Amino acid sequence: MDNLTPRGSMGIERIAVLGAGQMGNGIAQVAACAGYEVVMIDIKQDYLDNGLAAIENSLSRVVKKERMTQQDADVAISLISTSTEKTSASDADLVVEAIPEIPELKFSTFTELDSICKPEAILASNTSSISINAIADATNRPDRVIGMHFMNPVPVMKLVEIINGQDTSSEVTELVVEASERMGKVPLACNDSPGFVSNRILCPMINEAILALEEGVAEPEAIDGIMKLGMNHPIGPLALADLIGLDTILHIMNVLHEGFEGNPKYAPSDLLKDMVSEGKLGRKSGEGFYSYS
Ligand code: 3HC
Repeated sequence: MDNLTPRGSMGIERIAVLGAGQMGNGIAQVAACAGYEVVMIDIKQDYLDNGLAAIENSLSRVVKKERMTQQDADVAISLISTSTEKTSASDADLVVEAIPEIPELKFSTFTELDSICKPEAILASNTSSISINAIADATNRPDRVIGMHFMNPVPVMKLVEIINGQDTSSEVTELVVEASERMGKVPLACNDSPGFVSNRILCPMINEAILALEEGVAEPEAIDGIMKLGMNHPIGPLALADLIGLDTILHIMNVLHEGFEGNPKYAPSDLLKDMVSEGKLGRKSGEGFYSYS
């Protein structure tokens, strides 16, 4: 790729969000609330319908709290279109990918997006753990690939962790910082490294809480209560694991363990591995450290 090709100055107006799941629909929502034209793309119409329903539900909570008028919520919804074709991202200025955390799927998706999207489009990934450099390598525009890591639940959480790959241009970082701020978020930047900053710190803490439970140090309610009341955390680490998904926590611990060359401090606990293999994934499966039936 010729990095010197002038692309002209650009502003972000149209955003494509790939994936209508928990993170994708949240990102589509905050982008539309900021006035961006948004296309939400997923492989099945059902997923898109569920994503739109989640957005409507979340917006109605915000309207009920009188933090937004019904009229503004209606405008936001009208800015969101849906599609089952990735080619609908062809005129986007920014694509935010929020598909499952499967490295090969991410790489092939970015190769495809690179061929579909206009040359100046920025390709961002909401990955929680996959290397931005490796994702960028799957494209011919590594200077326009960046991490945009939103937190769950997206409409509520202020942070967007911005992950610069080794080739990400400063212009791209600036544009993505600006777009995140327009979405009402606080963007904070870091460099590509296993787990970035957020999950490098958060997931070992959660894993430690699971080890404490496994070793019989305390019951789940006590572990969570100690961290809530003692450290002012909004919810305890085990309840947070249930919110994030135990499979996601295990996946991130494995990425950290491998990424830091087998350092035992990142080894996932046996209880975490057992619960994932038993299908106890937290809120999404109805059972984790707590029951959600
Ligand atoms: N849409 C809109 N508003 C929402 C919402 C949604 N989806 N979910 C919650 N809210 C609002 C509620 O309306 C409520 O508003 P209020 O303050 O005006 O009453 C407020 O958020 C609090 O919600 P609830 O009263 O229902 O419940 P809680 O007080 O338990 O708060 C929470 C929910 C904000 C999620 C809180 O439990 C919390 O902060 N949890 C920690 C979240 C966290 O740490 N997230 C990061 C996860 S790590 C991550 O995402 C990275 C990944 O890579 C793993």
